[in-house]
Amino acid sequence: MCGIIGYTGVQAAVPVILQGLERLEYRGYDSAGMGIFENGEIAMYKTMGSPSNLKEKAPQGSAAKVGIGHTRWATHGAPDEKNAHPHMSADGKFAVVHNGIIENYVELKRELTEKGYIFRSETDTEVVAFLLEEAYKGDVKSALSEIMPKLNGSYALGILCSDYPDTIFCAKKSSPLFVGIDADGGYLASDVAAFYKNSGKIYKLGDNEIGIIKKDGLKVFDIDGCRIRKTEVKIREAQRYEGKGKYEHFMLKEIYEQPTAFSATLENILVDGKIKLGCLKMNREKIKHLNHIEFIACGSAYHAGVVGAYAAQKLLNIPAFSFIASEYINRSSSADENTLVVIISQSGETADTLAAMREAKKRNAKIVSIVNNELSTIAQESDCVILTKAGREVAVATTKAFSAQLAVIYALCIRLSYSAGKIDREKYKNYCTELSKISEKIGEFLKENSYAKSIAEILKDTDYCSFIGRGFDYCTAMEGALKLKEISYAHCEAYAAGELKHGTISLIENGTPVVAVVCDSSVATKTLGNIKECKARGAKIICITNDENYKGDADDVIVYVPKTEDIFSVSLSVLPLQLIAYYTAKLKGCSIDKPKNLAKSVTVE
Ligand code: AGP
Repeated sequence: MCGIIGYTGVQAAVPVILQGLERLEYRGYDSAGMGIFENGEIAMYKTMGSPSNLKEKAPQGSAAKVGIGHTRWATHGAPDEKNAHPHMSADGKFAVVHNGIIENYVELKRELTEKGYIFRSETDTEVVAFLLEEAYKGDVKSALSEIMPKLNGSYALGILCSDYPDTIFCAKKSSPLFVGIDADGGYLASDVAAFYKNSGKIYKLGDNEIGIIKKDGLKVFDIDGCRIRKTEVKIREAQRYEGKGKYEHFMLKEIYEQPTAFSATLENILVDGKIKLGCLKMNREKIKHLNHIEFIACGSAYHAGVVGAYAAQKLLNIPAFSFIASEYINRSSSADENTLVVIISQSGETADTLAAMREAKKRNAKIVSIVNNELSTIAQESDCVILTKAGREVAVATTKAFSAQLAVIYALCIRLSYSAGKIDREKYKNYCTELSKISEKIGEFLKENSYAKSIAEILKDTDYCSFIGRGFDYCTAMEGALKLKEISYAHCEAYAAGELKHGTISLIENGTPVVAVVCDSSVATKTLGNIKECKARGAKIICITNDENYKGDADDVIVYVPKTEDIFSVSLSVLPLQLIAYYTAKLKGCSIDKPKNLAKSVTVE
């Protein structure tokens, strides 16, 4: 998704904007640009590729103290300089940067074209610049109040107006937007990390609000022009922006932060051997009368949801389903007031997940969200928020946030099961005891990674690789395949091991790598049979198992992970697959932290 940064203050604007754009790179980009006030005019600088390319284009020594910047992840129009933001009004008075989608831009563009406006880009954003020009009669806030109702869809807008060279205007609906005020000036950003400092006050703009930022303060108005008093939001230290430290990539750093992410997430949940989830506000009767549970998410968060559905079904013995968020609204979910809906999202801003959550809310289901950002839109619209404390996750390919999501899911399922009387006190205590050991087991396993580098040598040139598993192992197989796909661009797929013989076994040839996950003890024997099926067709087996007695065949590669309860096994079996994907991508020279075409959080449907 796109990223916005803006600054008006006492410092030179160009370095502040360049640093902000660099910190927004994790969101994904294909081009970047900035607009600054120079000699009372708005000067624009744009580039293809990384925002750091702007360093050669933007005037580093510029005295400009006000400007806006943008990283573009193309939704409408090719990724090229003419579509890069900011976009300017025809009269050159307005420059606009935008994150989101103006869903009715075609109609607006037609109307504006009929009025004689000449569009220079293929973007939806340009209609905002022209609408502002058309509505403007000297007051930008009034012009925004007039045009915002015309904009369907989602938008976070940063705006410069040449009549107000010391001011940044902003407005938002659905897409996040933060404002910071400190001694150096006023900041605008899609993500606090882009300007975060230890000092200053931070505010989150609400939907249909208009912000006017000057170097010494912020004024906020509703769409009718009435002043709104904003309360400061507190940013946890964990949300601070940190560098890569000793690691070559953020992804590797975040893989090794998983023990801490897991234990920090459980810090206030697993207390003295008991699970505390007071925010649920569900008494035993309510829990006993749950008709089913739905886990809804996208990507890796969806895989965590599949773990949740399997674990909930096993522990609560009630129907539990996992849904890909973008498919949820196409299915006639039977959610109602007796349904628990668990929304999982690292960013808390994923548009597909947000849309599905709103759909579930219409059905009066109880909405619990598991997010890594308490300021996110999903968090703010949930009945109950359970925070993962993974810290800021920068790499597009999630690892530590995924692990932290699993920690919450395990705790939630155990808590619900015990409250519903489905497991006895002994079993509850045993689960809680084992859960308290997972973080240490993750850390122990991560001490060694040479196996991953040698397996990467096997995978780096393969043109097809299969990941198989049953039960919880199938969840691991899905997440492992996604990691390898998204950062090394390998063609691979995850399959329920029992399903292989119904089709894709046709793809197994001599030497085809098959990554078989065999850690869920309840289904291990059958998966070993599926390994034999693959071997019989020449497959190269890479087996991830927690059974030290399993030796496989001489030419198999076996990675042993620590044993644990079946329902916790994904937290350990996924680790080698994360590292294997990382080292494979490294060998292939891929852009690991910012894979092509991908964004850290996709705020468009
Ligand atoms: C995972 O490595 C990907 N980056 C992607 O699948 C991600 O999990 C998905 O887009 C959901 O993001 P969210 O957790 O922020 O909602």
